Amino acid sequence: MKEIDKDNLPKHLAIIMDGNGRWAKKQGMLRAFGHENGTKSVKVTVENCAKLGIEFLTLYAFSTENWNRPKMEVETLMKLLIGALKKELKTLQDNNIRLNAIGNIDSLPNSVKKELQEVILKTENNTRMTLTLALSYGARDEIINAVKNISEKVKNNIISTDAIDESIINQHLYTHNMPDVDLVIRTSGEHRISNFLLWQIAYAEFYFTEVLWPDFNEEELNKALISYQKRERRFGKTSEQIR
Ligand code: IPE
Ligand code: IPE
Ligand code: MG
Repeated sequence: MKEIDKDNLPKHLAIIMDGNGRWAKKQGMLRAFGHENGTKSVKVTVENCAKLGIEFLTLYAFSTENWNRPKMEVETLMKLLIGALKKELKTLQDNNIRLNAIGNIDSLPNSVKKELQEVILKTENNTRMTLTLALSYGARDEIINAVKNISEKVKNNIISTDAIDESIINQHLYTHNMPDVDLVIRTSGEHRISNFLLWQIAYAEFYFTEVLWPDFNEEELNKALISYQKRERRFGKTSEQIR
Protein backbone atom coordinates (compact mmCIF):
# COMPACT_ATOMS: atom_id res chain seq x y z
CA MET A 1 0.00 0.00 0.00
CA LYS A 2 1.04 3.57 -0.70
CA GLU A 3 2.74 5.44 2.12
CA ILE A 4 1.06 8.30 3.93
CA ASP A 5 2.68 11.68 3.29
CA LYS A 6 3.20 13.18 6.76
CA ASP A 7 3.39 16.66 5.22
CA ASN A 8 -0.10 16.45 3.74
CA LEU A 9 -2.26 15.24 6.60
CA PRO A 10 -5.65 16.75 7.31
CA LYS A 11 -5.09 19.18 10.17
CA HIS A 12 -8.63 18.50 11.34
CA LEU A 13 -10.18 15.08 10.76
CA ALA A 14 -13.82 14.52 11.70
CA ILE A 15 -15.40 11.06 11.81
CA ILE A 16 -19.06 10.03 11.77
CA MET A 17 -18.76 6.67 13.50
CA ASP A 18 -21.75 4.81 12.10
CA GLY A 19 -22.90 1.20 11.82
CA ASN A 20 -22.52 -0.23 15.35
CA GLY A 21 -26.10 -1.50 15.43
CA ARG A 22 -25.91 -3.22 12.03
CA TRP A 23 -22.56 -4.76 12.92
CA ALA A 24 -24.11 -6.42 16.00
CA LYS A 25 -27.29 -7.49 14.22
CA LYS A 26 -25.28 -9.22 11.48
CA GLN A 27 -24.00 -11.61 14.14
CA GLY A 28 -27.36 -12.01 15.82
CA MET A 29 -26.34 -9.84 18.77
CA LEU A 30 -27.99 -6.86 20.47
CA ARG A 31 -27.16 -3.32 19.35
CA ALA A 32 -25.33 -2.73 22.65
CA PHE A 33 -22.73 -5.31 21.60
CA GLY A 34 -22.01 -3.17 18.55
CA HIS A 35 -21.56 -0.06 20.65
CA GLU A 36 -19.21 -1.92 22.97
CA ASN A 37 -17.06 -3.03 20.05
CA GLY A 38 -17.25 0.46 18.58
CA THR A 39 -15.31 1.78 21.58
CA LYS A 40 -12.38 -0.44 20.56
CA SER A 41 -12.27 1.22 17.14
CA VAL A 42 -12.34 4.60 18.89
CA LYS A 43 -9.26 3.73 20.94
CA VAL A 44 -7.31 2.39 17.97
CA THR A 45 -8.25 5.34 15.75
CA VAL A 46 -7.36 7.91 18.40
CA GLU A 47 -3.95 6.32 18.95
CA ASN A 48 -3.23 6.05 15.23
CA CYS A 49 -4.23 9.64 14.52
CA ALA A 50 -1.98 10.89 17.32
CA LYS A 51 0.92 8.77 16.06
CA LEU A 52 0.50 10.08 12.52
CA GLY A 53 0.53 13.69 13.70
CA ILE A 54 -3.06 14.74 13.12
CA GLU A 55 -3.62 17.81 15.29
CA PHE A 56 -7.40 17.76 15.65
CA LEU A 57 -9.60 14.68 15.67
CA THR A 58 -13.34 15.14 16.18
CA LEU A 59 -15.57 12.14 16.73
CA TYR A 60 -19.35 12.21 16.39
CA ALA A 61 -20.38 10.11 19.37
CA PHE A 62 -23.95 11.19 20.13
CA SER A 63 -26.21 13.54 18.19
CA THR A 64 -29.07 15.74 19.39
CA GLU A 65 -31.30 13.37 17.37
CA ASN A 66 -29.91 10.28 19.14
CA TRP A 67 -31.91 11.28 22.24
CA ASN A 68 -34.91 9.90 20.33
CA ARG A 69 -33.56 6.33 20.47
CA PRO A 70 -35.06 3.83 22.94
CA LYS A 71 -34.30 4.83 26.54
CA MET A 72 -32.36 1.60 27.11
CA GLU A 73 -30.01 2.28 24.20
CA VAL A 74 -29.38 5.87 25.32
CA GLU A 75 -28.55 4.56 28.80
CA THR A 76 -26.18 1.96 27.35
CA LEU A 77 -24.37 4.62 25.33
CA MET A 78 -24.00 6.88 28.37
CA LYS A 79 -22.68 3.99 30.48
CA LEU A 80 -20.15 3.04 27.80
CA LEU A 81 -19.04 6.64 27.61
CA ILE A 82 -18.41 6.84 31.36
CA GLY A 83 -16.54 3.54 31.25
CA ALA A 84 -14.39 4.62 28.33
CA LEU A 85 -13.53 7.95 29.95
CA LYS A 86 -12.44 6.21 33.15
CA LYS A 87 -10.49 3.54 31.33
CA GLU A 88 -8.82 5.65 28.65
CA LEU A 89 -7.58 8.60 30.70
CA LYS A 90 -4.24 6.79 30.85
CA THR A 91 -4.20 6.31 27.04
CA LEU A 92 -4.75 10.05 26.62
CA GLN A 93 -1.99 10.93 29.08
CA ASP A 94 0.47 8.41 27.61
CA ASN A 95 -0.11 9.82 24.14
CA ASN A 96 -0.13 13.49 25.19
CA ILE A 97 -3.72 13.94 23.94
CA ARG A 98 -6.01 16.68 25.17
CA LEU A 99 -9.73 15.91 25.52
CA ASN A 100 -12.39 18.42 24.51
CA ALA A 101 -16.16 18.16 24.11
CA ILE A 102 -18.63 19.99 21.88
CA GLY A 103 -22.41 19.96 21.97
CA ASN A 104 -25.11 20.64 24.51
CA ILE A 105 -23.01 19.23 27.34
CA ASP A 106 -25.49 20.49 29.97
CA SER A 107 -28.09 18.04 28.68
CA LEU A 108 -25.90 15.01 29.50
CA PRO A 109 -26.47 13.02 32.72
CA ASN A 110 -24.53 14.38 35.71
CA SER A 111 -22.46 11.21 35.95
CA VAL A 112 -21.23 11.73 32.36
CA LYS A 113 -20.59 15.43 32.88
CA LYS A 114 -18.53 14.73 36.00
CA GLU A 115 -16.29 12.16 34.29
CA LEU A 116 -15.97 14.31 31.18
CA GLN A 117 -14.97 17.42 33.14
CA GLU A 118 -12.41 15.43 35.08
CA VAL A 119 -10.70 14.04 31.98
CA ILE A 120 -10.83 17.41 30.22
CA LEU A 121 -9.19 19.07 33.23
CA LYS A 122 -6.54 16.38 33.69
CA THR A 123 -5.51 16.49 30.01
CA GLU A 124 -5.74 20.25 29.46
CA ASN A 125 -1.98 20.74 29.14
CA ASN A 126 -1.46 17.92 26.63
CA THR A 127 -0.26 19.17 23.26
CA ARG A 128 0.13 16.41 20.70
CA MET A 129 -3.48 16.16 19.53
CA THR A 130 -6.86 17.58 20.52
CA LEU A 131 -9.50 14.87 20.63
CA THR A 132 -12.98 16.37 20.55
CA LEU A 133 -16.04 14.30 21.35
CA ALA A 134 -19.26 15.60 19.83
CA LEU A 135 -21.82 14.72 22.50
CA SER A 136 -25.46 15.71 22.36
CA TYR A 137 -24.15 17.62 19.36
CA GLY A 138 -26.23 19.06 16.55
CA ALA A 139 -24.94 21.63 14.07
CA ARG A 140 -28.29 23.43 14.02
CA ASP A 141 -28.31 23.60 17.80
CA GLU A 142 -24.76 24.99 17.65
CA ILE A 143 -25.79 27.67 15.14
CA ILE A 144 -28.87 28.64 17.18
CA ASN A 145 -26.67 28.94 20.24
CA ALA A 146 -24.18 31.13 18.36
CA VAL A 147 -26.92 33.40 16.97
CA LYS A 148 -28.35 33.86 20.48
CA ASN A 149 -24.95 34.74 21.97
CA ILE A 150 -24.09 37.16 19.17
CA SER A 151 -27.53 38.81 19.38
CA GLU A 152 -27.08 39.32 23.10
CA LYS A 153 -23.71 41.02 22.47
CA VAL A 154 -25.19 43.23 19.76
CA LYS A 155 -27.99 44.23 22.12
CA ASN A 156 -25.44 45.15 24.80
CA ASN A 157 -23.24 47.07 22.32
CA ILE A 158 -20.35 44.62 22.67
CA ILE A 159 -20.41 43.82 18.94
CA SER A 160 -21.81 46.05 16.18
CA THR A 161 -23.96 44.40 13.49
CA ASP A 162 -21.48 45.57 10.85
CA ALA A 163 -18.65 43.72 12.58
CA ILE A 164 -20.33 40.31 12.20
CA ASP A 165 -18.16 38.28 9.85
CA GLU A 166 -16.93 34.69 9.51
CA SER A 167 -14.46 35.15 12.31
CA ILE A 168 -17.14 36.40 14.75
CA ILE A 169 -19.35 33.45 13.87
CA ASN A 170 -16.43 31.03 14.30
CA GLN A 171 -15.72 32.47 17.73
CA HIS A 172 -19.27 31.73 18.86
CA LEU A 173 -19.46 28.13 17.72
CA TYR A 174 -18.69 25.20 20.03
CA THR A 175 -15.57 24.69 17.89
CA HIS A 176 -14.27 28.22 18.51
CA ASN A 177 -10.61 27.31 19.02
CA MET A 178 -10.43 24.75 16.21
CA PRO A 179 -9.57 25.02 12.50
CA ASP A 180 -12.08 24.14 9.77
CA VAL A 181 -12.53 20.45 9.02
CA ASP A 182 -10.28 19.14 6.21
CA LEU A 183 -11.61 15.60 5.94
CA VAL A 184 -14.85 13.93 7.02
CA ILE A 185 -14.97 10.13 7.16
CA ARG A 186 -18.33 8.35 7.46
CA THR A 187 -18.51 4.60 7.91
CA SER A 188 -21.36 2.15 7.21
CA GLY A 189 -22.22 3.20 3.67
CA GLU A 190 -24.52 6.10 4.56
CA HIS A 191 -23.91 9.19 2.44
CA ARG A 192 -25.21 11.95 4.67
CA ILE A 193 -24.07 14.47 7.26
CA SER A 194 -26.72 13.91 9.94
CA ASN A 195 -26.44 17.42 11.42
CA PHE A 196 -22.65 17.27 11.97
CA LEU A 197 -20.46 20.41 11.82
CA LEU A 198 -22.41 22.13 9.03
CA TRP A 199 -20.49 25.40 9.18
CA GLN A 200 -17.06 23.82 9.68
CA ILE A 201 -17.28 21.44 6.68
CA ALA A 202 -17.82 24.22 4.13
CA TYR A 203 -14.66 23.14 2.24
CA ALA A 204 -14.02 19.69 3.70
CA GLU A 205 -13.23 16.62 1.63
CA PHE A 206 -15.48 13.58 2.13
CA TYR A 207 -14.61 9.91 2.39
CA PHE A 208 -17.36 7.32 2.62
CA THR A 209 -16.75 3.65 3.29
CA GLU A 210 -19.03 0.62 3.54
CA VAL A 211 -17.02 -0.63 6.53
CA LEU A 212 -19.06 -0.65 9.75
CA TRP A 213 -17.54 1.32 12.63
CA PRO A 214 -16.52 -1.69 14.81
CA ASP A 215 -14.50 -3.00 11.81
CA PHE A 216 -12.76 0.33 11.20
CA ASN A 217 -9.02 -0.09 11.85
CA GLU A 218 -5.58 1.26 10.98
CA GLU A 219 -5.79 -0.03 7.41
CA GLU A 220 -9.14 1.68 6.83
CA LEU A 221 -7.84 4.93 8.31
CA ASN A 222 -4.82 4.77 6.03
CA LYS A 223 -7.04 4.20 2.99
CA ALA A 224 -9.06 7.30 3.83
CA LEU A 225 -5.93 9.40 4.32
CA ILE A 226 -4.37 8.20 1.07
CA SER A 227 -7.59 9.05 -0.77
CA TYR A 228 -7.50 12.52 0.81
CA GLN A 229 -3.89 13.02 -0.24
CA LYS A 230 -4.73 12.35 -3.89
CA ARG A 231 -7.21 15.19 -4.06
CA GLU A 232 -6.65 18.70 -5.28
CA ARG A 233 -8.26 21.21 -2.95
CA ARG A 234 -8.95 24.22 -5.10
CA PHE A 235 -11.02 26.44 -2.79
CA GLY A 236 -12.71 28.03 -5.80
CA LYS A 237 -9.49 28.66 -7.73
CA THR A 238 -8.40 26.95 -10.93
CA SER A 239 -6.07 24.00 -11.03
CA GLU A 240 -3.37 26.14 -12.66
CA GLN A 241 -3.49 28.60 -9.77
CA ILE A 242 -2.91 25.82 -7.26
CA ARG A 243 0.11 24.20 -8.93
C1 IPE B 1 -23.31 4.66 15.48
O1 IPE B 1 -23.89 3.44 15.18
C2 IPE B 1 -23.31 5.01 16.94
C3 IPE B 1 -24.25 6.09 17.30
C4 IPE B 1 -25.01 6.74 16.49
C5 IPE B 1 -24.31 6.44 18.70
P1 IPE B 1 -25.44 3.25 15.09
O2 IPE B 1 -25.98 2.98 16.44
O3 IPE B 1 -26.07 4.41 14.41
O4 IPE B 1 -25.55 1.95 14.19
P2 IPE B 1 -26.53 1.68 12.98
O5 IPE B 1 -26.42 2.84 12.05
O6 IPE B 1 -27.90 1.57 13.57
O7 IPE B 1 -26.04 0.43 12.37
C1 IPE C 1 -25.00 9.95 13.26
O1 IPE C 1 -25.36 8.61 13.18
C2 IPE C 1 -24.66 10.29 14.68
C3 IPE C 1 -23.48 9.62 15.22
C4 IPE C 1 -22.63 8.89 14.58
C5 IPE C 1 -23.25 9.86 16.61
P1 IPE C 1 -26.88 8.17 13.14
O2 IPE C 1 -26.91 6.71 12.93
O3 IPE C 1 -27.60 8.68 14.32
O4 IPE C 1 -27.41 8.94 11.85
P2 IPE C 1 -28.73 8.78 10.99
O5 IPE C 1 -29.88 9.00 11.92
O6 IPE C 1 -28.73 7.40 10.41
O7 IPE C 1 -28.63 9.82 9.93
MG1 MG D 1 -26.46 4.85 12.48
